[in-house]
Amino acid sequence: MDLKPEAVSKITVPLILDRKLRGEKITCLTAYDYPTARLVDEAGIDVILVGDSLAQVVLGYDSTIPVTLDEMLHHLRAVRRATRRALLIADLPYGAYHQSEDEALRSSIRYLKEGGAEAVKIEGGRKRSALIRRLVDAEIPVAGHIGLTPQSLHSLGGYRVQGKTAESAAELLADAQAIEDAGAFAVVLEGMPRELAAIITRRLRIPTIGIGAGPDCDGQVLVVHDLLGLSMLPRAKFVRAYADLAAVLRDAFIRFRDDVRGGGYPSDAESYHWSGDLREQFEKWATLRSLKDEV
Ligand code: KIV
Repeated sequence: MDLKPEAVSKITVPLILDRKLRGEKITCLTAYDYPTARLVDEAGIDVILVGDSLAQVVLGYDSTIPVTLDEMLHHLRAVRRATRRALLIADLPYGAYHQSEDEALRSSIRYLKEGGAEAVKIEGGRKRSALIRRLVDAEIPVAGHIGLTPQSLHSLGGYRVQGKTAESAAELLADAQAIEDAGAFAVVLEGMPRELAAIITRRLRIPTIGIGAGPDCDGQVLVVHDLLGLSMLPRAKFVRAYADLAAVLRDAFIRFRDDVRGGGYPSDAESYHWSGDLREQFEKWATLRSLKDEV
């Protein structure tokens, strides 16, 4: 594999901000386990997000709402062990920052101290301003997340593209500005018209990372299971599957099943063997102990 020279230098929060000034696109993928995170990191992806999409794509919950801080931390630690170059951001899950700012601070500090995260991501716009300020004051870099925010599933009434009316577009623009003013270093724009994401991107000094928000954002993020064709969920319009790993895995599992059933696995070459005259020695030993019939 051919890594570009920049793939070796550590990606930091200031470097992500600098990317916008330079007009260089930011790449981000989710990861939830050690091997995936290693491959994502080694491929030179700038940001690894331990997203709360973990809930659905790995843990099988039917939304992101049930996943707990401890479940997130378990996966964050595995990803941390694999990540050398990428900036590591982790999602605060629903309920880990909604009850009080102190609780949000405690959750974020656990992410940094126990999980090795370098930044946290929280969903919501203006209503998170004070919280973002508080976290930033505690030296915790924060990424915002607005538009189709999955943790608001019940209040949004479903997974719907946001900002499709002039009023709601203006609200989202105000949310994005508030996130920047509160001190966040980036904002994820999810599920919104390309035109609105382009306006927000032009207005903000901090980078926008889009998912289902068109190509004009400063960067793009995808859920790695979607990119790999490994998601069990219906595929959204914006998802480009770069592989069909579900088909590859299914085929491997079926071939293993058939090989075992048919006696084709393991072969003699895939078995360990006694060396030299060990069988003879063992037979003598067994005869002495009247075990001959069992050998
Ligand atoms: O949890 C997640 O994977 C996310 C991305 C969709 C941005 O928040």
